[in-house]
Amino acid sequence: MSLRFDFNNMFNSSVADHGVSQDDINEILPEAQKAASHLKKIISNPKARVKLNLEWAKLPEQDKAVIEQIQKIGREISKKYENVIFLGIGGSYLGLKAAQDALCLPYYNEFKSLRKKSPRVYFEGNNLDPDPLKTLLKNINPKKTFVVVISKSGETTETKAALIIVEAWLKASAGAKYGRQILAITDPESGSLHKRVVAEQQKDALSFRSFPLLKGVGGRFSEFNMGLLHLAIVGVNINELFAGAKEMFDRCSQDNILKNPAYMYALLHVILYRKKAKSLAILMPFSQGLKSTADWYVQLLAESIGKKYHRNVSISADGVEDWLNDWDNIFGKGRTPISAAGTNDLHSIQQNNVEGENNKVITFIRVEKFKTDLKIPGKNDLLSGKSFCQLMQLAQEATEWALVRESRPNCTIIMPEITPFNWGALLFFFEMATAFEGELQNVNAFDQPGVEGYKNYMYYKLGKPGVSQDIINEIKTHPLPKNPDLIL
Ligand code: PA5
Repeated sequence: MSLRFDFNNMFNSSVADHGVSQDDINEILPEAQKAASHLKKIISNPKARVKLNLEWAKLPEQDKAVIEQIQKIGREISKKYENVIFLGIGGSYLGLKAAQDALCLPYYNEFKSLRKKSPRVYFEGNNLDPDPLKTLLKNINPKKTFVVVISKSGETTETKAALIIVEAWLKASAGAKYGRQILAITDPESGSLHKRVVAEQQKDALSFRSFPLLKGVGGRFSEFNMGLLHLAIVGVNINELFAGAKEMFDRCSQDNILKNPAYMYALLHVILYRKKAKSLAILMPFSQGLKSTADWYVQLLAESIGKKYHRNVSISADGVEDWLNDWDNIFGKGRTPISAAGTNDLHSIQQNNVEGENNKVITFIRVEKFKTDLKIPGKNDLLSGKSFCQLMQLAQEATEWALVRESRPNCTIIMPEITPFNWGALLFFFEMATAFEGELQNVNAFDQPGVEGYKNYMYYKLGKPGVSQDIINEIKTHPLPKNPDLIL
């Protein structure tokens, strides 16, 4: 059985004035229908998909031969190495971490019996804090470690810095052939990591082997592309994952918006955002393993919809749309995503959810069957005879109830089990919902210009060649204000 979506508590029948009314739905439907046909038109046009960065929508239909090739290399790495370090940040990291935590058992690295024959997995290059990387390299054997570096551009400071350190560490033990312990997942045509791959492979074909980050697939939409090698290494069934994503693609291609889970999800949230000022989006899976999936969603929503400008759609000479910023039409909005987890955060953010400002919508993920269970023994305790799964589900239901009693809108994604099929479906659902929200809000959901500001400032301060004169002037004329009186 696949995912189900319970939208009851988004409506005024559950949460009174804080919910969506039938009139709200009737009012937005024509706009939503237009948005749905626009999205459909782009997804069904291969040229437009690539140009506008919607190629991710077709990833579940990837060539079986490509998957087999990835699985082969994954098996080869698994067999030969005790550790694999994945270097990457943002879209080149969060999907992997989400998959690791959702699809492998907890304490995977600690216990051989859980890993079966797979290596330990570490994620680095996602922060400039030196402590984790230094500690890791001090404690694992470079001879038994393989490194996968993931970066579309090859220029991302965190990943690049980590790669330089890791390379020196590998080289010190493996010598000149250390590049055979590195695989790069990057743009197949451009970027500094791609150039490095070409140069290294000319010297030694087994060095810096590479897999492509496909054209038209942006980082945060790329788990079904850049994440596959990780899945193969830890032994997740990729075909099952794709089957789930494909099933969700079919469900979310349905024209009737009121029956389309991703479109309904986006539509109800947009109504509550526009009409009821629900600007915070809390994703609260009731599962420890899905907390990193909530972190992945934070990036997806924040980078896709939090935009300064509306989108200006025009038709270019090749007959395909161009999406440029509409400089005269400021949006400057976007729901703010927050990740939480049940039941941990019932003793934390939940107080504010129930009694604080009524400015949020909470999405629960309710898991109906966990990978394992624990039955509480004895007869004399209130908890005797109950299982953790039962209690978890009760806690989720109780949380819903507490919110509804205070007229706090929420909805629940029901996941029968955390399997590759259902997890693939879940990710695809969120991707489609986000793309649709971009259409409704008329923003380009597939770029992230706001991330450039800090990068440009760092590049300028580091003296990187190629920083434009406009950026240099802007930084020089707007230094960071630092009044010493305000530093206590
Ligand atoms: O979603 C995105 O495109 C970004 O989050 C990128 O994935 C992130 O900035 C890392 O970029 P790169 O893969 O070029 O190192």
